[in-house]
Amino acid sequence: MSITVKQLHPDFIGEIGGTDPSQPIDDATFAEIQNAIDRNAVLVFHGPKLSEDEQAAFAERFGPLYADNRLLKKDNKDRIGPKLVDISNLNENNEKMARDDRRRMFGLANQLWHTDASFKAVSAKYSLLHAHTVVPEGGETQFADMRAAYDALPQKMKDKIDGLEAEHCIATSRAKLGFTEFSDEERKALPPVIHNLVRTHPATGRKALYLASHASHIVGWPVPEGRMLIRDLMEHATQPEFVHSHTWQVGDVVIWDNRCTMHRARPFDQDAYRRDMRRATVMDPDYMEKPARLSA
Ligand code: OGA
Ligand code: MN
Repeated sequence: MSITVKQLHPDFIGEIGGTDPSQPIDDATFAEIQNAIDRNAVLVFHGPKLSEDEQAAFAERFGPLYADNRLLKKDNKDRIGPKLVDISNLNENNEKMARDDRRRMFGLANQLWHTDASFKAVSAKYSLLHAHTVVPEGGETQFADMRAAYDALPQKMKDKIDGLEAEHCIATSRAKLGFTEFSDEERKALPPVIHNLVRTHPATGRKALYLASHASHIVGWPVPEGRMLIRDLMEHATQPEFVHSHTWQVGDVVIWDNRCTMHRARPFDQDAYRRDMRRATVMDPDYMEKPARLSA
C-alpha cells in the first residue's frame, strides 16, 4: 500500500492518507510512514476512534512505550487503561474535573510550550495523541519546528549554544503556573535531568533546539543568564513562521517527534466542554549523542 502525504506547512506537518491506524500496518507501509515522520516531524491521521489496545499497538510500531505513565502518584484513580496517558479534563467518573482538582491544575501546564518527557532521563521519541471528544472552540494543539528554528539562528548564536546542556524538571514547568504541591514520593520519582540544548536527529542529521517549559537553566552558567537564554530561544522558536496549529476532529491521531518539535495545548472552556484526548508515548532509550544524566 502507498500512503499519501499532504504538506500542511512548507517545512513540517504531513497529513497522511491511504492508511488506517486502526488496522495492522504492513512493513512497507510502515517504512513510508517512518520516512514521512523523519521529513515532517508531525503527522496527522484522520480515522475512526481507536481502543486503548489499537492505539498502543500502532504506537508500538515506533518503539517501546513507557511502562509507568502516571506523573501524579497521589491521584491513583484512573479513567483509562495503563498503556495511555489521560490528556482529558475528565475525572475517573467521566465528569468534568472541578477547577481545583489537582489533576486539572497539573494538566494546565500542557498549555505551556514543551516537548514530552524531557524531564525524564529516557526522554520521549514520539507521542501519539488521539481525539475521542473534541471541543467546539479553542483546544487546538500547536506545534513548533525546532529544526527550522535552529536553522534560522545567526551563526554566532549557533556557535554559542552548541555543546550547552540544560536542566529539565517537571516541577519547573508546574511552578510557572504556581503549582508546587508535589508529594515527596512524586518529587523523588522525577529528579531533574540534564539534556543537550542542541540535538542532531539520528535519521536526518538535522540539528534542532531541544527546549521545553521544563528547562530551568544552563548547566555551569549563572541561573539568571541561563534562564534568559532559554526564554529568548523559546521566543525565537515559537514565532509564527515555525508554528502550525492543529484543529482536532474525533478520531484524529497526531504523531510528533519530541526530539525536534515543541507543542502546547490552547485554552478552552473547561467548565463548559468535555475534551477527551489520550496519548501513547514512545521512549527514546537509544539517544546517545551525549547521554542524559541526573542532575548532581
Ligand atoms: C500532550 C499534550 C496537548 C493538547 O498530549 O503531551 O501536551 O493539546 N497535549 O492536549
Ligand atoms: Mn505534551
